[in-house]
Amino acid sequence: MFYCGGGVIAFINRVMTSEEAKIEIERLSRDLARYDRWYYVEAAPEISDAEYDVLYRQLEVLEGEFPQWLSTESPTQRVGGQPIEGFEQLAHRLPMLSIDDVFSREEVTAFFVRLQKLTGLQQLDLIVEPKIDGVAVCLIYVNGCLQNAATRGDGMEGDVVTSNVRTMQSVPLRLPEGSPELLEIRGEIYMPNEAFAELNRQRDEAGLAVFANPRNATAGSLKLLDPREVAKRPLEFLAHGFGAIEGLELASMNEFFELLKKLGIRGNQPLWRVHSLDEIFEKIEELDQLRHDLPYGTDGAVIKVNSLALQRELGATSRAPRWAAAFKFPPEQQQTLLKSITVQVGRTGVVTPVAELQPVLISGSTVARATLHNQDEIDRKDVRVGDTVVVEKAGEIIPAVVRVVKEKRPADSVPYVLFDVVGGKCPSCGEGIIREQGKVAWKCVNFFCPAKEVNQILQFASRKALDIDGIGESVAVKLVESGLAHAPLDLFSLTEDQLAALELDPAKMESGALSKPRRFGEKRAASVIQSLQKAISEKPLSRWIYSMGISQVGQSASREVSRLCEDFASLPDCEVIEMIRERGGREAWRKEHPYRHGKGFDSEQQRVENLQRHETYKARMVELDEVLAPYQVASELGGVAAGKLLVFLRSNRGQEVLARMAGLGICPKSDNYDPKPVDLEGGSEGLPLAGKTFVITGILSSPRDEFKRLIEEAGGKVTGALSKNTDYLLAGEGGGSKLVKAEKLGVEVISEEELGEMLGE
Ligand code: IVH
Repeated sequence: MFYCGGGVIAFINRVMTSEEAKIEIERLSRDLARYDRWYYVEAAPEISDAEYDVLYRQLEVLEGEFPQWLSTESPTQRVGGQPIEGFEQLAHRLPMLSIDDVFSREEVTAFFVRLQKLTGLQQLDLIVEPKIDGVAVCLIYVNGCLQNAATRGDGMEGDVVTSNVRTMQSVPLRLPEGSPELLEIRGEIYMPNEAFAELNRQRDEAGLAVFANPRNATAGSLKLLDPREVAKRPLEFLAHGFGAIEGLELASMNEFFELLKKLGIRGNQPLWRVHSLDEIFEKIEELDQLRHDLPYGTDGAVIKVNSLALQRELGATSRAPRWAAAFKFPPEQQQTLLKSITVQVGRTGVVTPVAELQPVLISGSTVARATLHNQDEIDRKDVRVGDTVVVEKAGEIIPAVVRVVKEKRPADSVPYVLFDVVGGKCPSCGEGIIREQGKVAWKCVNFFCPAKEVNQILQFASRKALDIDGIGESVAVKLVESGLAHAPLDLFSLTEDQLAALELDPAKMESGALSKPRRFGEKRAASVIQSLQKAISEKPLSRWIYSMGISQVGQSASREVSRLCEDFASLPDCEVIEMIRERGGREAWRKEHPYRHGKGFDSEQQRVENLQRHETYKARMVELDEVLAPYQVASELGGVAAGKLLVFLRSNRGQEVLARMAGLGICPKSDNYDPKPVDLEGGSEGLPLAGKTFVITGILSSPRDEFKRLIEEAGGKVTGALSKNTDYLLAGEGGGSKLVKAEKLGVEVISEEELGEMLGE
């Protein structure tokens, strides 16, 4: 053997010039990267571990001698640097979306039929592949070098975890020659089941808390601040998609997976190409059999459109693409004893019964509690204390009581009546609880109920809201109990000393014993204060809206509101939100005032009044549609959410919040303000398509949005549905039912070329 032992290395170095060392370092790096690839990606090692170690050591020594040739992509540099203070954020170039879940054959069929309809194609080219139960990340390669890795975060921005991901040997640091200028690979990081079990065994032995499941272990590992610790965790990566790409044209997912092979990146498998519904079902069943033998967790099958042109055509909602669906395998179920029912009070005062269960293992994690939602649900399932119940993890995450095993019910069991059990009083504050008309939930309406206060603070501080470090449940409870904070904004009046001195309750340790009472401490106090300052200076309007915890106003709705309104102070008077609320009332109004066709009126006057009322209302709705059209409001912000937001902001409490924020100098600004993405109004005279209305169908040479932009820039309007007011139907390949309808309505059908002529191109 040529390279063995320090003596030989020393000898080589003595005679090696810097140029020779450079060539040697490059050669060794390349070889080691290739062996890594064979070992970690292809699972077919080319050389023995001992041989690998010798080459690795050789490279390390040469790099030490000739540091001028040390590159960050060298195989020796995976675990570099010092622990970091915290994670920076990275804005995703393209949002990292979710996938719509489907749970039954009917829903898969509906997805398939929808695709057929939207594309106008009978036969579809689809891919079926496993849904990996991991942590989503993107890997950004610039000119073939791994530049950044980030988690999905809220889909818009995630944590930069580059130094942690670099430690994973299944992730290449450098791609082969000729890879594109920019390549963003997306996929899942996971911990193989066996490695997870071993890690937990070791942790248990060392007296450390064990992880609930492989996904938590993965997420926890990626959040470690010291890459040297991460390197010890058995994490792996599988790619299933991509984000931004520059310098390469891809036509299909299939091509993308081929590219992965060329680049030495592990791609998801098995992959099946299918064309019909029957084939989809066949492959889902095959995967269901096969998945138990995969070394990692899978909770479903992802069905994707193969053609990227079609994917673009189909587009996405703000949540998920229309070209993919995830069929979720039915969750594993277990029977267990329902020991008792506890009652919790949420941030809006809703009183929720929770089943306390004999702990039971389901899909790899222990379940000891499950929400019973409300009295109606308890009645519907007839759940009683002492029952044996069937429990499952809905979506493999949230435990749910499915049904009672009646045969095992004790003879003396009694129905559970929440109101009686709590004596009609809120278990947190002792004030009366009420049930609003038409609602299923009991509610504590005491404005100062401590449970509500705690949960409002928790919502405010949560990761998806203002991400205040260090405010967990025990801290929030203590803040409320001690009177230091009753509302989220009170946090801004806390001093570092007050926080540091906070005495927390003893924690329950893994062994079941209680720890000593703990002081919150200076370090954590400083971090809370710092996060609060960051919330003021850095967090955008959308997060502030979401942090208020207004019912129905979730993350997507908050994001849409912040696109439409510039800052917090202008929200209560925002006209667009008001109009969205009014337009959203349409359905309710229709229900309340059903239009009656001529019959059943007591008098002619009544008939005329009914008609007039209808006409007025309809005219107002048409007007609202027209005024709102240029705002292109996403469906995530409906009338109900808009209404709830305005009611809150205009209530005494909302006004108080606004005044306090102003007093504290907090004025969150929108970071996505773009109320009218297209100008449909005015200014179009003289433009070639002024006043013309278009509908687009079929497959075109560019994404539909591109044509929409062209038409709108030329003064035209694009709508979704054909009507007699449509001037032109722009039809690509496979226009389907719209072509037939256009003919019926006498709407002129034009091709891309004809549109080009109209645009004067
Ligand atoms: S494709 C935007 N394929 O599941 C959708 N995603 O629940 C394109 N996931 O955010 C994603 N396995 O992180 C795709 N084979 C697979 C997947 C997969 C797991 C994750 C992904 C996504 C999440 C949605």
